[in-house]
Amino acid sequence: MNILHISAECFPIAKVGGLADVVGALPNYQKKLRVNSNVVIPYYNNDFSKKNDFKEIYKSDIKLGTDYFDFRILKLLNSKLGFDVFCVDVPKLLYKDYVYSTDDTERFLAFQIATLDWLLTFDEKPTLIHTHDHHTGLIPFMMSQSHKYESLKNIPTVLTIHNAQYQGWFPHDKVSLIPPFNFRNVGLLDWGGNINPLAAAIKCAWRVTTVSPSYMEELKQNANGLESLLLHERAKCIGILNGIDWNVWNPETDKTIIKTFSASTAISGKKANKKWLCKKFNLDENKPLFCFIGRLVGEKGADLFSSIFTKALKENDISILLLGSGNKETEAQLKEIDNNKSYNSFIGYDEKLAHIFYAGSDFILMPSRVEPCGLNQMYALRYGTTPIVNAIGGLKDTVIDIDDNGYGICHDGVSIQKVSNAISRANNFYTEKVRYEQNIKKIMKIDYSWNNSAQEYVKLYQSLKK
Ligand code: GLC
Repeated sequence: MNILHISAECFPIAKVGGLADVVGALPNYQKKLRVNSNVVIPYYNNDFSKKNDFKEIYKSDIKLGTDYFDFRILKLLNSKLGFDVFCVDVPKLLYKDYVYSTDDTERFLAFQIATLDWLLTFDEKPTLIHTHDHHTGLIPFMMSQSHKYESLKNIPTVLTIHNAQYQGWFPHDKVSLIPPFNFRNVGLLDWGGNINPLAAAIKCAWRVTTVSPSYMEELKQNANGLESLLLHERAKCIGILNGIDWNVWNPETDKTIIKTFSASTAISGKKANKKWLCKKFNLDENKPLFCFIGRLVGEKGADLFSSIFTKALKENDISILLLGSGNKETEAQLKEIDNNKSYNSFIGYDEKLAHIFYAGSDFILMPSRVEPCGLNQMYALRYGTTPIVNAIGGLKDTVIDIDDNGYGICHDGVSIQKVSNAISRANNFYTEKVRYEQNIKKIMKIDYSWNNSAQEYVKLYQSLKK
């Protein structure tokens, strides 16, 4: 089987969030199962593009409405990723120093059209096209409806929803940007009076997956307007839990952390990483260290962080450390927290620092209101850091509470009171030294690598193969 993943992000080429980690890892695990999986992403103006070599393998132009744009397909040379990467270079639209912005409609349409135009030239077509999120959501529609792509019609398509909050909406007056199709079927593009790429993909893809089973169930109740569509299409929908890249996220070999460690050396290994972090961020290394890593947005509960942290720091003798950026108001509130050697933050993102956070922290906070899967709790477990999570979506599917014979702290719902209670429970757990240290060893051995889930995807692909 030859599978092409089409995505806006792929680690380490371009990363904004977890989508990149998934697309950068899953193909490798599929390869182990003898499925030849490769990736198509846009060519961005970033460090990766500048520091790596590419070979032009195709060149043409696309028509977007009445305008023509040159494009090239660049193959990444000496790919160390384990799979082939094809970058779609549309210099005038895609080659920017950002991944997402306000001009996404035209940019991602250009990406999708250029990709499909290029696919038309293949002697041997891929067995299946796997699209991710709304940025590539018009591909299943165009493959099944646009006259131009008639020869791609019988190739099965899979859509994976990483986050249904964002749907890529644009007004109908831009419909002429989409290559001509039988206009009787324009309804396939529509949801609630707009063109909705995510809805179009849910309608047109052969199968729809979400990144955890619980998230699939939750979407039928709450999907930013798409609930009834998902209910209607439920027969072709399935939740498949994400995994993590066991090689990139391995505390025994991780070159980015201060001291590597295994389950048997975890206590001293984590201590060395914690010491470095506490020195860098002016915190007391003898107190339990709670961290947050991620985007500062409402979905992650970030609007409550300043109140939660202030309350938790008043009630417990702990330290809190944060790494992330996002909502400017939240950033400002976080800077105002009285630090008193027990709180600090790094506003921004730094992949290396994130690894040290996982290695050196005692607890990771994930009070998400929405969490389709969440990868941070799995990275944390791998590095012996106990997760404190709101039990929804993928968090519910991956973390079991210590009081239910599990290994994490779960709370039901997100409020200042509920999260600070969970922090106090965690702090008490920390003082039960023997039990807490046993837990570190236990969680490091839980296998949330892609091994299981990659198989589920392969099963899904096989069921669609003619
Ligand atoms: C999105 C989701 C996150 C998920 C990731 C990878 O970023 O918000 O929960 O883990 O995609 O699928």
